[in-house]
Amino acid sequence: MNILIVFASESGHTRKVTDELASRLDALDNIVVIKHALTVKSLQFEEADLILVGTPVHGYILFGQKPAFAIRQVIQSKLPENLMRKPVIGFATYLFFPAGALNSLKKAIEKRNGIFLKSFTKRRSQKEALVQEILNYLERNPIK
Ligand SMILES: Cc1cc2nc3c(=O)[nH]c(=O)nc-3n(C[C@H](O)[C@H](O)[C@H](O)COP(=O)(O)O)c2cc1C
Repeated sequence: MNILIVFASESGHTRKVTDELASRLDALDNIVVIKHALTVKSLQFEEADLILVGTPVHGYILFGQKPAFAIRQVIQSKLPENLMRKPVIGFATYLFFPAGALNSLKKAIEKRNGIFLKSFTKRRSQKEALVQEILNYLERNPIK
């Protein structure tokens, strides 16, 4: 399966989760492409059978918890108009309060005819557990 992992990361926590996920999924015979949110191209979404989007949680006093700016830009302008029922998973690392940081991602995916499978959100101190939860989910819910 072709898997695209799009991520943003300022201090490296989400990047670590991304790298670990990529190497574990690669070991399961997938073709994994990792792209930073700033450099990913629309075409790369189209080529993937499964898309994972990883972000830190960024909070704003008036606007609540959101994905990182680069991920918000992907949501606004890089997602293909029609995701053709492609499955998407969101994951986020946070420090103290994640709230609904991935809600905007879910909405955007569903608006573009993608299938938002699930959000995974864990404290940045629990990166290995986050990786494991995502892998367990994929094992229990294989993508057809
Ligand atoms: C500008 C900014 C805002 C943040 N806001 C929140 C927040 O509202 N809630 C939270 O739990 N963590 C918040 N954090 C902490 C990050 O979500 C957390 O450290 C994350 O794991 C960083 O991931 P990264 O190393 O991939 O950038 C914030 C961090 C930054 C830099």
